[in-house]
Amino acid sequence: MGDQEEGFAFYCFLKILLLQWKKSTNRTGKDEKVMKLEQLEKLLQDMSLEEKVGQMVQIPANMLTEGGLLTGPTDTMEMSEETTRLVGSILGKTGAEELHNIQKEFVENHPHHIPLLLMYDVINGMETIFPIPLAQGCTFSPELVERAAHAAAKEATATGLHVTFSPMLDLVRDARWGRVMESTGEDPWLNAELGRAMVRGYQGSSKVQGELLDLAKEGNIAGCVKHFAGYGAPLGGREYENVELSERTFREDYLPAYQAAIEEGCVMVMTSFNTLNRIPSSGNQWLMRKVLREEMGFDGVLISDYSAVDEMIRHGIAEDSREAAKLAILAGVDMDMVSNAYVKYLAELVRDGEVEERLVDEAVWRILKLKNDLGLFENPYKDGAKEKEEILFLCPEHRGLAREMAAKSFVLLKNDEILPLEQENAGTIALIGPYADSTEMFGAWSFPKRPEQGVTIKQGMEVRYGSVKVCRGCFMQDEDKQTKFGVKEKYTTEELETLLAEAEKLAGKSETVVLCLGEHREYTGEGASRTEIGLPKHQLELLKRVQAVNKNVVTVVFSGRPLVLTEVVELSRAVLLVWMPGTEGGSAIADVLSGAVLPEGKLSMTLPRCVGQVPVFYNKFRTGRPNEEGTTVGYIHGYIDESIYPLYPFGYGLTYTTFGYSKVSVSQEIMKKTETIAAKATVTNTGTREAVETVQMYLTDVKGSVVRPVKMLRGFKKVALKPGESRKVTFTITEDMLKFYDSNMVYTSEPGEFEVYIGPDSDTKNKAVFRLV
Ligand code: NOJ
Repeated sequence: MGDQEEGFAFYCFLKILLLQWKKSTNRTGKDEKVMKLEQLEKLLQDMSLEEKVGQMVQIPANMLTEGGLLTGPTDTMEMSEETTRLVGSILGKTGAEELHNIQKEFVENHPHHIPLLLMYDVINGMETIFPIPLAQGCTFSPELVERAAHAAAKEATATGLHVTFSPMLDLVRDARWGRVMESTGEDPWLNAELGRAMVRGYQGSSKVQGELLDLAKEGNIAGCVKHFAGYGAPLGGREYENVELSERTFREDYLPAYQAAIEEGCVMVMTSFNTLNRIPSSGNQWLMRKVLREEMGFDGVLISDYSAVDEMIRHGIAEDSREAAKLAILAGVDMDMVSNAYVKYLAELVRDGEVEERLVDEAVWRILKLKNDLGLFENPYKDGAKEKEEILFLCPEHRGLAREMAAKSFVLLKNDEILPLEQENAGTIALIGPYADSTEMFGAWSFPKRPEQGVTIKQGMEVRYGSVKVCRGCFMQDEDKQTKFGVKEKYTTEELETLLAEAEKLAGKSETVVLCLGEHREYTGEGASRTEIGLPKHQLELLKRVQAVNKNVVTVVFSGRPLVLTEVVELSRAVLLVWMPGTEGGSAIADVLSGAVLPEGKLSMTLPRCVGQVPVFYNKFRTGRPNEEGTTVGYIHGYIDESIYPLYPFGYGLTYTTFGYSKVSVSQEIMKKTETIAAKATVTNTGTREAVETVQMYLTDVKGSVVRPVKMLRGFKKVALKPGESRKVTFTITEDMLKFYDSNMVYTSEPGEFEVYIGPDSDTKNKAVFRLV
């Protein structure tokens, strides 16, 4: 192709992108942004190949120090100062003043003054820490999740950030995997609803509701859906393990939540570390170009996960960084997060004719467009300002929201008529356990600058009950165990015994014991898979010794995953699962223990009886030898040494009242594909306290051309009921809810019988039937 022809082809390509953009954002006129896009076209044309590749590179925060840029052969990326000046993005720095200075220096020194994109993992809050995403899942409240995401976005943008690496919408089913804490759980429908809510909260708009993207508006931040795709299904729950999923399971169970967030307008997607059916995501052309871009309609920026492009060498797919860069650009990865591939070899690959420059232009165009959407060409600092940090960080409004969300995420697993603990009994409550006075309640992906601002249970209880007697009881970790960073607790048997004996003594002379146990926050998150998912052995010993002298044990459990709590439940009169509740954890726990706030969380992930049951999840496929009684004898589905049933099912959670459900009824027993029908049940508060119930609707496809799940969540509604009050709860069933990939891999619904269940959890037997014709 001659120069002129090439120029024309490039011009046409930009025009097409521009038209697509106008269409996708419903813009028709030549408004300000569109004018700006025409300037962007010009900018892209003016950029050198090195400048363009620079935009596609993200460097880590540790390359920027107070003393200036850390570059050269010994640095993470082994980059020259000149190349570093051209990069498009920085990962992992925060602080309004610092980011202002960095941005200023980069913009001023860049040949075209292109601002940096500043990205960070704001997973469950910036400085005000909300409950971990798995706990947010237990709220079953898109409204609350959206509000928390927006509060996090406000704090994050105040500190100068533009993009958060959230929502994480990986479907998770294996509690051994450390990252289950980052997902909203094991259900595709719930994850999709909450993923949408997070995107709305971060980006401040909903594409589904026809709202225009306005990332430049104060308080809005760009979201990034991750990890595309299937990262939540590593074999054996082992971190960074490969993933093998049938295309049917992948599409039906794993894709919907990512898809929902993209529909909602999420502007970025991150590739995953794992292979999917033997191909690493960052080099998977089918996954990225066909599924993500073509089928799911994603037109934003695709970033790799941290060093994932170079990791294709160790996967044995690429010979070196050069080949890894080629695989990634062919798959459509726009930005290379902290690896040597793009920065070192992409320009060379273009010059050698191995990669068309068009692919680079496409990627850079998307990156420039995102910067433009964030308003960075007008104001590269966006909202970043020290004064805003001071106003927003840990402000009363955000703290209040964190407290409300925490309380609503707690799952009451058992209550043998002991909770709530009335305030009159204040003097007789003992608070025992390694979590009793700890601020370590943030979860693995939270990095508050002032962790001491977190409220401990002791502090929360003191506000409610006046002074409380506190004793540590044992250490957080067993002496032979370590966190993912290799941190151990060193203590002698005598020191442990002293703590245990103190606890026994205090428990013996108290009316009630609130025992605060759990796994260490650094036993969870990335790089923290576990083979044993119970409490540390010394914590269990503490429970046994306390229980031997006092039967009134209320156990509060902290965790980042569904732990095996079988013994804990047996030995305690009440068990409250509080996950990693965040900044206001202690206040929220006191709110719930005292009954000032009623628990309303429902499990977003099944709780196993023992680790051997894992992965255990409710929406499994039917077998030829179902085991409804949960027997362990005979040629029947299950185990010979343990029930097939989990300790508590998905959707389960108690409160301080009880609810009754009427039988389910359907508006019509025959449903035509073009119609909808309604399923109803009346829910009654049969107890003595006003409370909220999360009413859940599940569907079962009785017979299909392929085996269908036992049950599938297809709706949930929260109802607040006074004692004695009843409310009819109605769900609309649409044909879409009945669709699946049939035996020919066609996404369709099949005529036949369906069961609709309405009840308090996934174990409900309360059903009606209808036929699809
Ligand atoms: C690796 C993690 O997998 C990803 O979730 C995170 O966003 C990046 N590191 C950046 O911190």
